[in-house]
Amino acid sequence: MARSLLDLDDLSREEIDAILAASERFRDGGAARDLLAGVTVLTLFFEGSTRTVTSFTVAAQRVGADVISFAPGASSLGKGETIADTALTLYAIGARVIVVRHAESGFARRLADDFAGHVVNAGDGTHAHPTQALLDLMTLRHEFGRVDGLRVAIVGDILHSRVARSNIVGMRMLGVEVILVGPPTLLPAGFVAQGVRVERDLDAVLPNVDAVMMLRIQRERIASGLLPSLDDYTQRYQLNARRLAALRPDAVVMHPGPYNRDVELTDDVLRDPRSRYAAQVRNGTYVRMAVLDFLVNGAAVPAA
Ligand code: NCD
Repeated sequence: MARSLLDLDDLSREEIDAILAASERFRDGGAARDLLAGVTVLTLFFEGSTRTVTSFTVAAQRVGADVISFAPGASSLGKGETIADTALTLYAIGARVIVVRHAESGFARRLADDFAGHVVNAGDGTHAHPTQALLDLMTLRHEFGRVDGLRVAIVGDILHSRVARSNIVGMRMLGVEVILVGPPTLLPAGFVAQGVRVERDLDAVLPNVDAVMMLRIQRERIASGLLPSLDDYTQRYQLNARRLAALRPDAVVMHPGPYNRDVELTDDVLRDPRSRYAAQVRNGTYVRMAVLDFLVNGAAVPAA
């Protein structure tokens, strides 16, 4: 069976290190052009995306793949074709890698079960978004020279965030201390059970972290009643000029995008020299080049 990347725990710690090292080589101009020559990569996005889909497309092109972008709105899944049928069809046409995003948690795994090539999960429901976590780890590693021993606060709508979930998995594997901060209704209880630290007071947390990762409130996934009043939310959890003053001068601010101005952050944050939003987006392309190369050329296939 071909190797897929559905979440970060599909990888060993050594494999994550190797992917991050390869990402840095690509960033520094390492040769990439022919790595996926003759390989067809298909992007299959059932949910909206700006950063992730363009970043995967650019990454696949830079490693020499042929890229097809398929708009599933017009697909035969809507005509009753099953995922298995679709997977068989896409493989027969020549796709060897599918990069997939879907609103249903677990969709990428279902596709990987049926597809003979590699599947890369570009976000499935509230479950996982492994390449986002890899680009965040790359950004931290560049900033601090290491990730082991860093302390990172993830702030906001953690319940609906596949970005937070994959980051928690990856950061814990690599020895980062994660602190979750957000309203109780938007914090899944499961993490507490796993020993992840939860704090309610953002002001108390900010002076003591190396990085703070702000999240968007995902209104499109939120059940009514879970959302506190927006006023209350911004008062407690918004990163703004006053709170930036509490953050260490050498700390960094991250956000996976898209951000909602004046909700989880203000323009002061985007202008602040500690903001790493653009670096995160830039690193996304290198990480995705490395993931494609790893899956197609480098990954050992685990024993079934
Ligand atoms: C996120 C996503 O789609 O999971 N964005 C991204 O990929 N950078 C986060 C979000 O939608 O808030």
